[in-house]
Amino acid sequence: MIAGNWKLHKTVAEAEAYIQALLPRVSTADGVEVVICPAYLALQAMVDSTRGSRVAVYAQNMHQAPEGAFTGEVSAPMLCELDVGGVILGHSERRELFGETDRALQLKVPAALEAGLQPILCVGETEDERDRGDTERKLRHQVQEGLAKVPIERLGEIVIAYEPIWAIGTGRVATPAQAQEAMAFVRALVADRSRAEADKTRVLYGGSVKPDNAAELLALPDVDGALVGGASLDAESFATIVAAAG
Ligand code: 13P
Repeated sequence: MIAGNWKLHKTVAEAEAYIQALLPRVSTADGVEVVICPAYLALQAMVDSTRGSRVAVYAQNMHQAPEGAFTGEVSAPMLCELDVGGVILGHSERRELFGETDRALQLKVPAALEAGLQPILCVGETEDERDRGDTERKLRHQVQEGLAKVPIERLGEIVIAYEPIWAIGTGRVATPAQAQEAMAFVRALVADRSRAEADKTRVLYGGSVKPDNAAELLALPDVDGALVGGASLDAESFATIVAAAG
């Protein structure tokens, strides 16, 4: 899976221009699940424009309740109504800037699954945590909390994105050894509950993935794809990363 997280970028008109440029460039990427994650307001337009193509459209967040008094929020049934295929949950920007908690994620992950949305649960350590030797403790906490209420037989359906926070938007990509070690650890955490499900879980790397470093990261044994921020905003550079996964 190669997923592009657009974050707070692209109006509907910009998204339309982008998708027309992207579709012909990824039409032959066999075996790669290509995902774009636009802002809420461009979801409907992107679902319509990608229908019948190999590109899936996911949201960047959702609320855990199907409906209620939660001003400004969007629910799983609302995303499903638009034919959105999945949702990013627990991105570090939501955790750091918007107060996203592990407690809420415990509910969001199973709520997305039950609604038929593909969840991408994001985890990752800060630079301080890595320097202090706390990377594994942080990942253990985030993975265990995020998956706590997922039934064991559905664990393998969760996509987990390992995004070291110090590598997001900084151009400082994790070394292959750092990425492999952390991602093998993430998979081992799933295996603590079910070895068979851990083999099915897809683990993505995120953090300064670019056309010139994608192939090396994607070749790592425990890497099943990438969650791409900045380099997904340009159709050509995103298509180059998709090609590196093919
Ligand atoms: P960059 O690729 O811009 O570092 O962003 C990574 C990210 O946060 C994807 O969710």
